[in-house]
This record gives sequence, structure tokens and C-alpha cells, in this order.
Amino acid sequence: MRGVKKGIFITIEGIEGCGKSTQSRILKKYLEKKGMDVLLTREPGGTKIGNQIRKVLLDKRNKKIVSCAELFLYAASRVQHVEEVILPGLREGKAVVCDRFSDATTAYQGYGRGLNREVVSVVNNFSTKGLIPDLTIVLDLPQKIGLKRARTRNREKGLSKKEGRFEEESLLFHKRVRQGYLRIWKSDPKRVKVIDANQDIKKVNSQICEEVDKLIQKGIKYG
Ligand code: TMP
Repeated sequence: MRGVKKGIFITIEGIEGCGKSTQSRILKKYLEKKGMDVLLTREPGGTKIGNQIRKVLLDKRNKKIVSCAELFLYAASRVQHVEEVILPGLREGKAVVCDRFSDATTAYQGYGRGLNREVVSVVNNFSTKGLIPDLTIVLDLPQKIGLKRARTRNREKGLSKKEGRFEEESLLFHKRVRQGYLRIWKSDPKRVKVIDANQDIKKVNSQICEEVDKLIQKGIKYG
């Protein structure tokens, strides 16, 4: 689907506590300063229906959810998001910055849960309508540090009752997810860039902006 759209599509990925949401917000401001019309969104969620699905997916009480049901719920949230928000945004020439997208399904449901990766890939293709990000930033850091950050954040924000099903997963699960992201990077290094997230917020931000500038200079048309 590259080339059909007019805007640019950037996704930010990584394990829990890697700083995606903070960095996505900073990136939005950076792109706006460049005069771009920016749409900041996230998955699961990004639409009314997606946010309802998000609640089911992240609710700590839903421990019984089976991996395949989980896969389809993420896909359902994504189809809605792609149709309702992302594609219209791109067609309008916007820079769409998305906090997680289909690579998260590969990393979490494929590598983390151990679901058949070919199946995950087919589901991803179907739910994205073949849409591939122009640039994907993977914020990498050791799972121990990420989980500690995420659990502290959830406690401070009072999220621990409603969200946090994934923060309760084992360190081993998060290690598999981290390795999954690194494999995704190795399989598509032109699109996917890994940045060390275990450093100062400003440093991480400047490295992200560098990659974004390269993307813009490469001539992916904006507007
Ligand atoms: P976040 O908004 O804090 O990143 O939480 C979303 C959680 O959902 C996070 O633990 C990762 C997980 N996730 C998946 O397992 N698969 C997916 O496809 C996506 C988008 C997220």
C-alpha cells in the first residue's frame, strides 16, 4: 500500500516502560514545528470501538483470555483503527504517529505467546489491509528496567486495577517480546530502526528525530 497514500506513517514500538508514549508526544510537537498536520494515535484503541476492545485486552481480571482470542481482539481493534482513522489521515496528507501497530502483534502474540508466526503474519496483513509503516522506531531496553518503570507508572497513575494485564506477565515473556522486536528489526532494517531507550529522554528524542528527518529527506511525499 506504500505509494497510494499522501501522508507519512510512523510507528513507535517497544516493551513495557520503554517510553513510547512520551516519545510519541514529543515527536508530534517536532513534526508540527516542521509545519506538518500530525495525527497522534495508539493501539489497541484509537477509535471508540477500539477503546472498548482495549479495556477487555488490558483488564487484569481477564487472565483466562486464550492467546488466539487475544490475537483476534488486537486485529479487530486494528481494522477499525486503520479504516476509521489511519487511512483517512494518510489520504489527507497527515503525518500519522502511532503508538504500537502490527509489529506489536508479531512481537507479543508471535514471539511472546508463541503463536504460529505465519498465522500472525496473515492476520496482520488482513487487519492492516497491507498498510506498512514508512518508519518504525523500536525503543529498546532491558526488560527488567522496562517492567520496573511500567509498574511504577501504573501505580502512580492508579491504573493498576483497570489496566496492567501485561505488566503481570513474567520477565521471561517480556524477554521473548524484546527479542521478537530485535528480530523484526533484523528482518527489515530499512524500515525498522532500534534506539537505546535506556538513556536520557532528550537523547532518545534527538535520535528519533534524526531517523524521521532521514525519512522525510528520502522523499516520501508529505501533502
Ligand atoms: P500500552 O498502551 O501500554 O502499550 O499497552 C498495550 C499492551 O498491549 C501492551 O502490553 C502490549 C500489548 N499489545 C499486544 O500484545 N499486541 C498488540 O498487537 C498491541 C498493539 C499491543
